[in-house]
Amino acid sequence: MEDLAAEVVRRCRELAGVSEEPGRLTRPFASPAMARANALVGGWMGEAGMAARVDAAGNLVGHLPGSDPGAGTLLLGSHLDTVRDAGAFDGPLGVLAAVAAVARLRAEDVGLPFALDVLGFSDEEGLRFGTAYLGSRAVAGTLDPATLAVADADGVTVREALGAFGGDAGAASRRGERLLGYVELHIEQGPVLEERDVAVGVVTAIAGATRAEVKFTGRAGHAGTVPMALRRDAACALAELVLAVEAAARAEPGLVATVGRLEALPGAPNVVPGEATGSLDVRHADDAVRAAAVARIRRAAEEIAAARDVEVAWEERLSADAVAMDARLSDLLAGAVADVGLGDALRLPSGAGHDAVVLASLTPVAMLFMRCMGGVSHHPDESVEVADVAAALEVLNRFLRRLALG
Ligand code: HGY
Ligand code: MN
Ligand code: MN
Repeated sequence: MEDLAAEVVRRCRELAGVSEEPGRLTRPFASPAMARANALVGGWMGEAGMAARVDAAGNLVGHLPGSDPGAGTLLLGSHLDTVRDAGAFDGPLGVLAAVAAVARLRAEDVGLPFALDVLGFSDEEGLRFGTAYLGSRAVAGTLDPATLAVADADGVTVREALGAFGGDAGAASRRGERLLGYVELHIEQGPVLEERDVAVGVVTAIAGATRAEVKFTGRAGHAGTVPMALRRDAACALAELVLAVEAAARAEPGLVATVGRLEALPGAPNVVPGEATGSLDVRHADDAVRAAAVARIRRAAEEIAAARDVEVAWEERLSADAVAMDARLSDLLAGAVADVGLGDALRLPSGAGHDAVVLASLTPVAMLFMRCMGGVSHHPDESVEVADVAAALEVLNRFLRRLALG
């Protein structure tokens, strides 16, 4: 199993070289790098005996038929898109571990009654459009038309990007199919498994998240001649909001809130910024707490704008409620953890978002977390141990066998 695990890690690192940016891993939705990634991983799916295709939403799909056509399909996988300057394992580990699980079944001549589809989702991170889950929402049939009109920094809309990628979001839905569930292996992206010195854990729930774009509009001017008292500096308004967001999150237990991207225009050192835009990301396990925090932050933005005589525009890009994992599939995962000698599975929530949040509206979902070093993620230092990948592959294998026994 260690050989299979070592190959999964090697492939994650090879795939990490497929990027839109030299010297670091950045692989956005419907980008040329994403097309190259789909081709590389699609080739590995073919080697594992699967038929690989790219669906209408740019998701990579590897299919392995089951012995009983009426037994339905189990979905496995994770996402192939990344954040900017990403690590090698957030997303690809789940896809390539699922491919390895299929390869092992074939090598051991184990036939499952149900079919397996390994999915490499095309937009879990939402880097290009400030949204998230475009690929999985298309599969779930929940991608609203308004999202298709959202434009990226170059003014290209989701619809145009998908068209250029050869897709059509409306044609990717799997709603109505006989699906047994969606199970995703993912690095924890946090410190718990490492602190408890366990290789894997079973996810209980995924926190809810809100994403928005906040734009302040003041007046650009000469940095040398506009007196401070006469300025309508949009960047100062945004800076004040950033600190207000931090204060709101520090004041509410369990709340996390981030302004991860800030842009001041026109972006010249000697021009007072007339426009400043920030991204907002707010999360909490309790949806009501998150909604109240978002409302407080929005009021703070309006008060800051009024006090500084600037305008403020608030555009919500995503609101995903917290999702509890399916009890039956989670118990099967926990049973598989015990089967492989890893004891009573640790159960833990996920602060990070995952495509399972979206697929839960389509089919039962469950997640297996795997330890990552220092809990580091969304960073090139992201790393895993081969032994932990081997443990996760064993659990996946036992889970599939348990599920097949019904
Ligand atoms: O942002 C997240 O929680 C995930 O990594 N997309
Ligand atoms: Mn991820
Ligand atoms: Mn991520």
